[in-house]
Amino acid sequence: MIKKRIAILTGAGVSAESGLGTYRDNGGLWDSYDPMEVASIEGWYRNRKLVLDFYNMQRAKLAEARPNEAHRLIAGLEERFVVDVITQNVDNLHERAGSTHVIHLHGEATKIRPENTCTEEDGFSEKYVVDCGYDSVSLGDKAPNGAQYRPHIVFFGEAVPKMERAIDIVSAADTVVIVGTSLQVYPAAGLYRYARPEAGIYIIDPADVPVFDSRIRHIKKVATEGMKEIVDILK
Ligand code: OAD
Repeated sequence: MIKKRIAILTGAGVSAESGLGTYRDNGGLWDSYDPMEVASIEGWYRNRKLVLDFYNMQRAKLAEARPNEAHRLIAGLEERFVVDVITQNVDNLHERAGSTHVIHLHGEATKIRPENTCTEEDGFSEKYVVDCGYDSVSLGDKAPNGAQYRPHIVFFGEAVPKMERAIDIVSAADTVVIVGTSLQVYPAAGLYRYARPEAGIYIIDPADVPVFDSRIRHIKKVATEGMKEIVDILK
């Protein structure tokens, strides 16, 4: 039997119940930090230490966090479906819950690379990417090629190299499930529009969502509750 294909698009909301804060909710990270200072390419060149410290803090929080039931239910869908997770999150909670096909559109907090690699010029090659786990990275920590290590994050102002692969996955999906994203950051926010006309599209989010597509069903619940409903719907 051919398995149906499910694309799961996730944002910070899927990890909220693991204790990782979202970005734009009240009290979210961007209330305390200016994303243009700590998560943009201009910010990086202006003040590398500030950016390194911000991601050192993110890694330390991640070391303490655990996957929640929503991550586990998403991973469990692999028993019956071909599941691709396309996440905007830089955490590793999908992988730690057991998902085996995860694309990180905005990079990964537990990885670093020399600042002069993974650019359009070298074809976004990931061969210099290093797994740093939950360790801190300092100004002066340099790669063998002599360049400062930077977070392996897609900063504001940078291209999103994995977009094409993500578009292919969404275009081939029978069902698209969007979990916990404010759909404010493009190009990721526009991905669901590549779904086939007959594909089912669901959004799980306790807040109102800025979508006006009659194909979309909004499940107005937190991720853990909403994913239980999705598992029922897909039975
Ligand atoms: P946001 O903080 O913009 O949105 C989080 C969404 O999760 C909101 O719509 C909330 O209503 C929802 N939410 C909150 N708690 C939830 C819960 N328990 N269950 C389900 N949903 C919940 O986060 P993102 O949309 O992920 O990029 O942000 C997108 C990108 O902006 C991030 O990847 C990051 C940020 O700047 C970079 O830093 C490059």
